[in-house]
Amino acid sequence: MGIIYDETGRVFKLDTPHTSYMMGIADEEGFLGHIYYGKRISSCDVSYLLRIQEPPFVPSKNNGDRISFLDAFPMEYPTHGIGDFREAALRIRTQGGHKACALTYVSHRIYEGKKKLPGLPASFAGEGECETLEIVCRDKSLGLEAVLSYSVFEDSDVTARHVEIRNQGGEKLWLEKVSSMSLDMDNRDFEALTLHGSWARECHRQTGRLGNGFRGIASRRGMSGHQDHPFMALVTEHTTQERGEVYGVQLMYSGSYEILADVSQHNTVRWQAGLESQDFCWELNPGESFCAPEALLIYSDRGLDGMTADFHDFIREHVIRGKYKNRKRPVLINNWEATYFDFNTEKLLSIAKEAAGLGIEMLVMDDGWFGHRSRADSSLGDWYVNEEKLPGGLPRLVEEVNRLGLKFGIWFEPEMISPESELYRKHPDWAIAVPGRTPSMAREQLVLDFSRPEVVEGIWEQMEAVLKSANIEYVKWDMNRPLCDLGSAALPPQRQGELLHRYMLGVYELQERLVTRFPDILLENCASGGGRYDAGMLYYSPQIWCSDDTDAIERLAIQEGTAMLYPLSTMGAHVSDCPNHTIGRTTPFETRGYVALAGTFGYELDVTRIPETDREQIPGQIALYHKYNDLVREGDYYRISSAAQSCGCDCWQVVSKDKKESMVTVIQVLCAPGNRTRILHLKGLDPEKRYRIDGEDTLIKGDSLMYAGLPVPAMKGDFAGKVMHLVAENDKTK
Ligand code: DGJ
Repeated sequence: MGIIYDETGRVFKLDTPHTSYMMGIADEEGFLGHIYYGKRISSCDVSYLLRIQEPPFVPSKNNGDRISFLDAFPMEYPTHGIGDFREAALRIRTQGGHKACALTYVSHRIYEGKKKLPGLPASFAGEGECETLEIVCRDKSLGLEAVLSYSVFEDSDVTARHVEIRNQGGEKLWLEKVSSMSLDMDNRDFEALTLHGSWARECHRQTGRLGNGFRGIASRRGMSGHQDHPFMALVTEHTTQERGEVYGVQLMYSGSYEILADVSQHNTVRWQAGLESQDFCWELNPGESFCAPEALLIYSDRGLDGMTADFHDFIREHVIRGKYKNRKRPVLINNWEATYFDFNTEKLLSIAKEAAGLGIEMLVMDDGWFGHRSRADSSLGDWYVNEEKLPGGLPRLVEEVNRLGLKFGIWFEPEMISPESELYRKHPDWAIAVPGRTPSMAREQLVLDFSRPEVVEGIWEQMEAVLKSANIEYVKWDMNRPLCDLGSAALPPQRQGELLHRYMLGVYELQERLVTRFPDILLENCASGGGRYDAGMLYYSPQIWCSDDTDAIERLAIQEGTAMLYPLSTMGAHVSDCPNHTIGRTTPFETRGYVALAGTFGYELDVTRIPETDREQIPGQIALYHKYNDLVREGDYYRISSAAQSCGCDCWQVVSKDKKESMVTVIQVLCAPGNRTRILHLKGLDPEKRYRIDGEDTLIKGDSLMYAGLPVPAMKGDFAGKVMHLVAENDKTK
């Protein structure tokens, strides 16, 4: 790791263990240009990539054709309106209605460590583990400054970037677009890899070649969303899990965003990630500054496996915080699919009692415990206990649950308000709405205006009172609709474009309060499943409910896509009842357990009513969880095969960091008479070690398992699965 500034060539070079990122200050005016990002190189001598020597289009030599320079130069943080007609990273508007802005280099500083981002989630590092470069660029006539920040980490190939815009001029102006990062590169026939879906179908992979023009993804929903994940990778042709070059970016942000690639007339690609710009407009007065969210950038020359490994380790080390960062999570049972809204103390205790006897460690009471809520049409915002359902309130229920030996967790949807609620009757203006227009509802609810501090405060007071009232050890924070009809009763007209981002700052503020005031509580985020599964949320909660689709087979693609970016320790995964409530399929209970073992593991069913043959498997499943969870949480994850591409054979593997232990899970989606033994090529093992598979006598060397492969006989029955545990010889401790 290291950052240097070569004064002679006016070149910055940022090195991670395996990558280099280079920028240069060009020509007399000091344009900051991107030089190189990729596999680590040892010298700064590649500034020819700026192509500044190429006559005749350099301003100091030929200012008469300045536009030809600006429209081709690989600008590190491009602006709008001065003759670079590609996508700008920053767009502004002045009081006079003008949009031109030109940034050139002013100064820089390099320091150890990394600053926090005001009000926003951001990666962090301990002392001596990270270095940061800040480059100040300025538009001289506006007095506007962009401070470009880059942090590199000793133990990671991820580079964290963000941008702060400062108004140092004498007049207010408006920011209409602020990207967190922009990167100009030659287009090497890149393909864009993205993750897409819908409710209950999150994170399906999609790849397509970049052509001239734009290719982009965005969320305009005020949440990162089920539809397009805040991530994009540019990969060289024929990239596979193991081979090819991959540039990946993900945003540490949970609201509206955009990520795009713009291929120019000269076959260069401009790649950007940042806040969504259609609904955004931020007033910046003299002396004020605006901070854009952080972007996490990665380069891997080891295919997608390399990107995944780097993102996983980075998120585990530099994003996730709190008590559960490196801890096993309690095996929970959630009552949502067991009871929906129809429960009371007695019902919950009957589930808890049965669960305790089977080895389950925590009961989570989901939606329906507050106000007068017995359907989805009321009470959001009224966070007090419904004593008709729960006589004696939470203290009594939680004491009883604890007496049975279980921890207790609770559900909230803090950002929402039901028109049928006391809160709405008291504060109708707290809902996001446009004056004179009836706002569109979703799930019969409206969204609270979290851009207003008094709204955040009002919800916090209620939540704090609930959390203080009993021994609550887990919170599920849900969010079940997108934002529209954007209007805040508290913002003046010229600031309405700030609502979406201010809303997110309010959400982050409330989550920060929660984890600070109740540091022992395990927080799980959720947004109708994985509708807000992003690195921003992981800064507050070490786990996120992955999808409302708990069908084991649907989960294969969902978990494959999710695990491409996020560690398995973050993936909320439960065993549910069949026929599956979302899609109606029946799968073996055993297979449902194997699939859930790839995540945080728990149950989402009425344990008092499932078939006895299923119930009796629960203690064995929980034993597997305890046996494998350290490995799953901390190990290196590898995708071995994907059901979609391998005749229905889905396989993933986890290897301990010391390579002494590995777990291989195989799910056979298709049970066809012609199925034969499959040879699966394992990964990440020590080629020199000999491994024994639990329950078998033979030892197989790591290199054989990886290069020749592991034979896995065809399994009988639809949707069959198995887990194999490999332990290196002489490591008899496991
Ligand atoms: C959506 C969540 O994803 C579910 O798990 C459940 O909590 C419901 N909301 C409750 O309304």
